Amino acid sequence: MSPISSNRMSKEERAAQVSADLAFLAAWFRSPLKTGAVTSSGRMLAAQMAAMTDPRIPGHLLELGPGTGPVTSALLKHGYPEDRLILVEMNNDFRKRLERRFPNARVVVGDAFDMLRILDNFGVSSLSAVVSSLPLLLLPEEKRHGLLGDAFTRLQPGGGFVQFTYGWASPIPVRDWFSATPSKRLWWNLPPAVAWRYMPAAGAGQKVAGAA
Ligand SMILES: C[S@@+](CC[C@H](N)C(=O)[O-])C[C@H]1O[C@@H](n2cnc3c(N)ncnc32)[C@H](O)[C@@H]1O
Repeated sequence: MSPISSNRMSKEERAAQVSADLAFLAAWFRSPLKTGAVTSSGRMLAAQMAAMTDPRIPGHLLELGPGTGPVTSALLKHGYPEDRLILVEMNNDFRKRLERRFPNARVVVGDAFDMLRILDNFGVSSLSAVVSSLPLLLLPEEKRHGLLGDAFTRLQPGGGFVQFTYGWASPIPVRDWFSATPSKRLWWNLPPAVAWRYMPAAGAGQKVAGAA
């Protein structure tokens, strides 16, 4: 949680944040590699990720690894109505929280790497954006490129795949079939983070999943 944003929270927001942080810590103790962080994303990072999407681009917004929902909340503030959101979260406790908090969003407990099957089950063929908080850094490069390639098959023109990292390099190794644009580093986030937006390279056509 950002020290700056925490000062501006109401009493209710602060209580919700503490409850989310405790749930996060408990999930991290059970499964540190899959949870990927000890605390939920700060509001400035969530707002930065949302700002790298555009609700005017038609289609649903797919959020991968929403956790307790800070990025989801920023996406709503940024202009996406709840019923355009599809949230894919593998932790069932987080899934229940998300369903309570965002009753009009579609919440799926499942594996983000199954995104195409999940979208097909909902009959969703086009996406406005994909926003991911997945812990990607320990995964093989082919798997990260496969995830991006799958997303590109459903993204509308102008739509991008947004991913944050605490690291210095792009969390998805850069290739010529896509562009990769970082935000400024958000020093006030704990730990400091960068959001990246990936878009298909002009003229590159659709990526075949798995190609490096
Ligand atoms: C770094 S946390 C960020 C969550 C969110 N931004 C927050 O602050 O609450 C990563 C989230 O991704 C989820 N996750 C990890 N691997 C996943 C997968 N393969 N499919 C779906 N969710 C996954 C974890 O359960 C966790 O909630």
